[in-house]
Amino acid sequence: MLCGTIAEDSVRVGECASCGGLLDIEFEFTQPLGRDDFALVPPEARVNSGVWRYRQMLPWFPVESIVTRAEGFTPIYWDERLARYGGVGRLGLKHEGQNPTGSFKDRGMTVGMTHAKFVGASMVACASTGNTSASLASYAAAAGMVALVLIPEGKIAGGKLAQTIAHGARIVQVEGDFDIALQMLRELTSTYPVYLVNSVNPYRVEGQKTIVIEMFEQLDWQVPDVIALPGGNLGNTAAFGKALIDLNHAGLIDRVPRLLTVQAEGASPFVDYVDSGFDRFEPVVADTIATAIKIGNPASVERARRAIQFTGGMAARVSDAEIMEAKAMIDRCGIGCEPASAATLAGIRKQVGLGLIDPDAHVVGVLTGHLLKDTEAVVRFHLGEADTDRSALVHRPVSIPASMDALKRTLSDALQD
Ligand code: F0G
Repeated sequence: MLCGTIAEDSVRVGECASCGGLLDIEFEFTQPLGRDDFALVPPEARVNSGVWRYRQMLPWFPVESIVTRAEGFTPIYWDERLARYGGVGRLGLKHEGQNPTGSFKDRGMTVGMTHAKFVGASMVACASTGNTSASLASYAAAAGMVALVLIPEGKIAGGKLAQTIAHGARIVQVEGDFDIALQMLRELTSTYPVYLVNSVNPYRVEGQKTIVIEMFEQLDWQVPDVIALPGGNLGNTAAFGKALIDLNHAGLIDRVPRLLTVQAEGASPFVDYVDSGFDRFEPVVADTIATAIKIGNPASVERARRAIQFTGGMAARVSDAEIMEAKAMIDRCGIGCEPASAATLAGIRKQVGLGLIDPDAHVVGVLTGHLLKDTEAVVRFHLGEADTDRSALVHRPVSIPASMDALKRTLSDALQD
């Protein structure tokens, strides 16, 4: 309803029946909202969810409809080495990979699945580069609903595929890319009563807003100068923009950070769009090592435009080599993340280098997925061909015969004196 039409609450959440655009949820904050209001865990809550504790900023549902796996409450890590690598004075990394299924998707999924249950959906579906499908499979299993997942065949990371299989989703592998799979699913859900849980669904966006709200609470409402995140289908960029619009509207912040959306070079149509002054959007055929964001025709492009415009934000593109080097840095600091998440740090470093982020800036980056989601990428970097001139980042296990002599010989450098 970016066209202004008010949509009926129903199973059809994929698009506006009137203009074909995406739907959006609007709030009227009739009572003033205080920063301390969120500290109260709702007395009726059965679980302590880091999403539903912000219920004043979410659509209302009866407690019996809530489908939750106790998502949220993710940490912000502060590591001097990564701040130096990024080139900024103060850098926090909020790790959304520490959600129940290992990615930020769980935050939107709890709200989307709750709405699906509330409107009586029997089948829930998504197209996915892997994380949404893992999350959907888990939440559908928890709720006892049937999940349908369309994935680009052979193009999603092993950890994500394993989760989706294990949780019992019905998996259809499409011979094509994510963009085609999503297009097919949107067509299917516009004809059949299948509930669409991709981030075109406005309830998903509402849940993902809580990343920003929780971040501000953790920062004691010291709003950072820049928030950086990777961009694929752009649902999360849209959600961050919506969070900032709603927080501002509710009077909870008086300053808005700039959003930085980072895309992989081979999948960066949004960066071109931003660079064109939002004049022309051209989809691309996507190619990147970061399979999570291998998307050439992002569905939430116009919502993401609103987010960048509202925050005076920016978009950056980084190469696969830059992504993998940033990932190795994050991994070596003991934090770890999947490749797409590391685009965040690579993008911060790039923008500082270009003079577009002040080195004194307070920056928070979002790590979107867990290291274990994509172990193939780790193996390829460390045991294959790492494209980095920081050779100290590359680690290879050694093999020895089962003898103490061989062990001592191998460790001779470490065991001296
Ligand atoms: N990071 C990770 C780890 C992701 O899985 C995704 C998207 C993104 C970043 C980008 O977020 O699409 O909202 O701009 N993954 C989707 C999926 C597309 O199907 O799991 P976005």
